[in-house]
Amino acid sequence: MRSLSDPFLTLHEEPSDAEVASHRLMLRAGFIHKVAGGIYTYLPSAVRVLRKIEAIVRKEMNRAGGLEILMPSLQPADLWESTGRWEKYGKELFRLSDRHERAFALGPTHEEVVTSLMAGLVGSYRQLPVLVYQIQTKYRDEIRPRFGLLRGREFIMKDAYSFSTSEEDAKAIYHKMQEAYRAIFRKLGLRARMVDADSGLIGGNLSHEFMIMAPSGEDTVVSCQSCEWAANIEKAEGMDACPLCQGSLSRETAIEVGHVFYLGQKYSLPMNGLFSDQDGQEKPFVMGCYGIGVSRLMACAIEQSHDDRGMIWPVSMAPFQISVLPLGPAASESPFVKDLVEALMFRFPDEVYIDDRDLRAGVKFGDADLKGFPLQVICGEKNLASGNVEIKVRKTGAREVLPVKAVPERISAILESLGA
Ligand SMILES: Nc1ncnc2c1ncn2[C@@H]1O[C@H](COP(=O)(O)OP(=O)(O)O)[C@@H](O)[C@H]1O
Ligand SMILES: [Mg+2]
Ligand SMILES: [Zn+2]
Repeated sequence: MRSLSDPFLTLHEEPSDAEVASHRLMLRAGFIHKVAGGIYTYLPSAVRVLRKIEAIVRKEMNRAGGLEILMPSLQPADLWESTGRWEKYGKELFRLSDRHERAFALGPTHEEVVTSLMAGLVGSYRQLPVLVYQIQTKYRDEIRPRFGLLRGREFIMKDAYSFSTSEEDAKAIYHKMQEAYRAIFRKLGLRARMVDADSGLIGGNLSHEFMIMAPSGEDTVVSCQSCEWAANIEKAEGMDACPLCQGSLSRETAIEVGHVFYLGQKYSLPMNGLFSDQDGQEKPFVMGCYGIGVSRLMACAIEQSHDDRGMIWPVSMAPFQISVLPLGPAASESPFVKDLVEALMFRFPDEVYIDDRDLRAGVKFGDADLKGFPLQVICGEKNLASGNVEIKVRKTGAREVLPVKAVPERISAILESLGA
């Protein structure tokens, strides 16, 4: 039995305008297709990665007490006017009008929509605190959309918003979100660093960014060489030593993947987001907002983990964990291979990719390395003749030959050692 055809497999041509590894590799490996500057179609492999990232994000947000909602991308201008951001947001806001000439925006973020939602729903302190989130497409008319999914004009974000009765409660949720974010990046298998991003302009401000260190990054992290202190470049401007220990500072480029903000009453005040408190007084919600760049994360994983042959996916977000490569027509028809595939599909449902294309072994090896599935099960005719296949670990290049029957068990163990 042959698999259904996959016309998106690989490009094999060096894209001319791709400057960073993730962009280049995603085009070559058939993950994305450019529609216009900063706008892409996600192809099957990319969609699988996105869904895995989303599942991990969702789980941690739910664990933290978040309630998932889905707000519209089309947002009426009056909402944006009520906070002054219709003017202030500037050219990054995609603006359009309906057939009655009423103005709308394509949402770059959802503070206005969510604050008006809660203003309508919540009347009493008894209904607070509440944390809502969504995973949704955002629109920003970036001056320089570039680096593929790293800076798009249409991209996927998880955005969460919290509503509390007091600063103290709001800050407790803020800290819970910091922990949730650490858990998310850990589970994704990414090394992210939390840095201080508080502009320090207004007292009580609080903001942290989560950064993936990468040479291709457009952000800069300033960190202390003697202690744990780190901040973004805006925060660290003008500093020549660590504010905690006076240690010396170093700079590194990074990519921002997450951002948590304490908002206070910035949106609830102008938008009349009020609740009545225990003392009967009407007060504005105390808010926070929390973003993670879901589609940007997919690119970051590649920036953080690739080599000259291609992507090297962490098990947690690999499009498939296992690829099976039958080499030659006899291998494809071999009862050993058929049994093996069945056993693998049973044990690792939806994680097995079979490359049964009628192509040279070298092409299949190249594509498997390019797409970066964590494990390759290579079924060559010579090994099969003695009932064996070869397993290759993409990350280390380690190979071993073993009897077909032992493969599922062995794969379990390897996946576990890779952090599955
Ligand atoms: N143009 C973009 N393309 C892809 N992801 C983006 C883009 N802009 C922001 N993000 C992601 O969304 C997260 C939350 O966005 P936010 O902090 O509002 O953006 P910014 O710091 O660019 O103002 C960011 O941490 C980043 O991961
Ligand atoms: Mg930000
Ligand atoms: Zn220090």
